Amino acid sequence: DKANYRHFMAKEIHEQPEVVGHTLARYVDMATEQVAMPVTLPFDFKDIQRVSITACGTASYAGFIAKYWFERFARVPVEVDVASEFRYREAPLRKGDLAIFISQSGETADTLAALRYAKSQGLHTLSVVNVPTSTIARESEVVLPTLAGPEIGVASTKAFTCQLMVLAALAVAAGKARGELSAEDEGRLVHGLVEVPRLMAAALGTEPQIEKLARDIAKRQDVLYLGRGTSYPLALEGALKLKEISYIHAEGYAAGELKHGPIALIDENMPVVVIAPFDRVFEKTVSNMQEVAARGGNIILMTDAKGAAEATIESTVTIILPDMAAAFTPMIYAIPVQLLAYHTAVVMGTDVDQPRNLAKSVTVE
Ligand code: F6R
Repeated sequence: DKANYRHFMAKEIHEQPEVVGHTLARYVDMATEQVAMPVTLPFDFKDIQRVSITACGTASYAGFIAKYWFERFARVPVEVDVASEFRYREAPLRKGDLAIFISQSGETADTLAALRYAKSQGLHTLSVVNVPTSTIARESEVVLPTLAGPEIGVASTKAFTCQLMVLAALAVAAGKARGELSAEDEGRLVHGLVEVPRLMAAALGTEPQIEKLARDIAKRQDVLYLGRGTSYPLALEGALKLKEISYIHAEGYAAGELKHGPIALIDENMPVVVIAPFDRVFEKTVSNMQEVAARGGNIILMTDAKGAAEATIESTVTIILPDMAAAFTPMIYAIPVQLLAYHTAVVMGTDVDQPRNLAKSVTVE
C-alpha cells in the first residue's frame, strides 16, 4: 500500500535510504568496511578481459554509470549496450569473459534474449535483479539481488539506486581481485558506500525547493539535462524520468557535447538542469554552464556547497546536495532528479504511477 503517500512513486522515492541501506548491508561487511559478495563468484576477475553490460531503459543507465566505476576501480574495459541492440548486432565476445545483465523485473524480453546470446557464446553471466524468482535470475549463472522490495510505480526509482549500490560494490570487489585497489583504497571506497543511505536521506530534504521549481518546469515544453562523468548517464536518466511521467520532452546530454549541436536550442525558454557535484570534472561543466547562461538559458544547478561557491555564474536556481566522496554521487543526485520529475507530473496532473502507453514489465520485444 501507499502508506501516507499520494503515489507509489513518492513512497518509493522516500524508501530509498532504507532499501539502499539493506542492499549495502548485503554486499559490504559493515564491521570491517570491506566488500563481501553474498555468493562466491564462479570466475576470477583477473581472468576477465572485457565486461559487457546489457539492460533496457533506466537499468541501462545504472549500467552506464557502473562502466565508469569498473573502468576506474578495476581498470577493466566495459561495454554498455541496450539489450534491443545487443541481441541482434552479433557483437564479438570472448569465451570466459563476463556479461552483466541488469533488470528490476527480471522478465524484460530483450534483456533475456541478450542473456541467452551471451550464454551461447560461453560467457559468464551475472544478473542484478530485483525479482529473485524471475526468468533472468533463473537463467543466469550468478544472481546479485537488489533488495529494493516490490516496485509498483511504473517509473523505476528505488530499483535504480539499489542497482547502483550492487554494481558499485561489485566494481570495488573487481578492483580488489585485480590488484588495482589497495586495502586503503578499498576502505575509503567502502566507507563512501556506507555513507550513502544517510546522504540520501539528507538529499530528500531538497523536496520543498524542488516542489516549487516543478511549478515552473510544468509550464515548459522542453528540458535539457547535462552532466559529465557519472553525472552524464544520470542526466540521461533525469530526462527519461521527466518524459515518461510528465510527458514533457527532455534530453540528456554529455555537457561537453553541448557545443556540438544542442546549444542551438538554448534560449530564455529552455530550462537546463546541470548535474555537477564538485568533482574532478566540475570546472569543465561550469564552463558549459557559462555557455548556457550567455544564451539566456535558465540553469537549475544541482551541486554541493563547494560547487555552489565556485560556480560564479548567475544560475536561476541552485539545489544544494550534501558534501560527499565524489565516486558515488549518482546515488545521491538521483533523488532530486526523481523528485523533479515526480513533482512536475503532479503539477501536470498526469497518472504518475501508471503513465500512458507504458507497462511495468516489457515482456515483448
Ligand atoms: C523507466 C523504466 C524502464 C525500465 C526498463 C527495464 O523508469 O522503468 O525504462 O527501467 O523497462 O525494465 P527492467 O529493469 O524490469 O528490465
